[in-house]
Amino acid sequence: MKSSLIETLDGQFSVPLSCMRKIRSFVAKEMDAGLAGRKSSIAMLPAYCDAASGREQGRYLALDLGGTNFRVMLVELPGFGKPPRVVAEAKYRLTPGQITGTGTALFGVIAGYLGKFLKDHAITSEIALGYTFSFPVQLLGIDEGILMKWTKDFSASGVVGRKVVAIQRQALVQKKVRNVNIVALANDTVGTLQAQAVLDPDCGMGVILGTGFNIAVRVASRRIRKETGAYRGKSMIINMETGNFNKVLPRNHYDRRVDMDSGNVAHQFAEKMIAGKYLPQLVRLVVLDLIRKDHFFDGHVPTVFCDKESFKGWHMDVFEAGSKEAVQKLSQELFGRELTPVERRVMARVCRLVSRRSARIAAALIIGALTRLERRSKQRMVVAVDGSLFEKYPGYSRVLAAAIRELAGPAGKGIRLKLTKDGSGIGAAVIAAVVASGNTNLVR
Ligand code: GLC
Repeated sequence: MKSSLIETLDGQFSVPLSCMRKIRSFVAKEMDAGLAGRKSSIAMLPAYCDAASGREQGRYLALDLGGTNFRVMLVELPGFGKPPRVVAEAKYRLTPGQITGTGTALFGVIAGYLGKFLKDHAITSEIALGYTFSFPVQLLGIDEGILMKWTKDFSASGVVGRKVVAIQRQALVQKKVRNVNIVALANDTVGTLQAQAVLDPDCGMGVILGTGFNIAVRVASRRIRKETGAYRGKSMIINMETGNFNKVLPRNHYDRRVDMDSGNVAHQFAEKMIAGKYLPQLVRLVVLDLIRKDHFFDGHVPTVFCDKESFKGWHMDVFEAGSKEAVQKLSQELFGRELTPVERRVMARVCRLVSRRSARIAAALIIGALTRLERRSKQRMVVAVDGSLFEKYPGYSRVLAAAIRELAGPAGKGIRLKLTKDGSGIGAAVIAAVVASGNTNLVR
């Protein structure tokens, strides 16, 4: 492998401190524009709720839709700041056809699975449900919202521009699921923040680093200049839709290719550099380039790199940090042979470049978001994080934390990144409980 090629890649995927600083200041500017209702790449969508108090109690259903897996959970909230408990849970897989077909069919499938869950767990009495719907939604209140656009390669027809909960309710009626009452609609970042806020009053931010990437923050209401209807609380959680941030990002020609190959061209630039859905696609494009330019893999394109989805995030895990045995076992499966020491080293290097860049850009966005956040404590700031990239990718959380320290300096000392497992679902149950308790800060 020519060292000049590797050096070029190093340059193309580097995110120096100066770049992180620029991103941080542009994030703050875009947040202000978004909060004022001006044109911005960060939508700053009101969630119509404040951080939970920990007193929320009861049993609620949560439905969590945000990727090709969707989950139904029955969640018990003990209150008194005690951790919520997932009493029952089921995961269902949506097919590519279902997420790109008609909206009616998609919501029908979800209603069908929800009905099955109720039956399997003998839930026959009326029950409130919090709906985590992890796409850009302009909420009209706590329990209804309009889908602004699809992300993450969803494209079901007839949903953009329409009321999501109304469509889901209709599907429930059609499937004869009568005892479920959808009382809250939330983004996964908001849910994650809420799931952690129940345990820790210093939590003011929720982050998803998984298939997609996004941040929610708690903002003082006086900073929110745009319409927030009947909401009267002193602060409110805002779903930033940070994945769409598009200023001063160090994009290269691989990023442009990923964008062109995506289902939402010219949108979600930050997400396409950070999120788990796109990182393997970047690795694939770099490897294809190396095959073309430098006879990597003997100049042959392995079939796993022939289409954009076959090379997966967990393959990256293994190539970047797996033992020699694990790498060779996977190589046998993917390429039909073991890799040479040079090939192994190059694969690890490419995966590291792509994953490190993701963590450093995410750090800059997180620190940028902190500048507008309403804090309860000056010393401590808890950031709730959920998602497979953060939880499972080797070394990711460490690189993220280090980049946060590098950028924030001494001010970064009190920042704690807390893995909030299942936060997106549990948080929806928490919001459902807030609604049930009547403490929503909404004037009726
Ligand atoms: C995408 C969605 C956003 C969600 C994120 C993480 O960016 O637009 O709403 O929070 O993915 O799932």
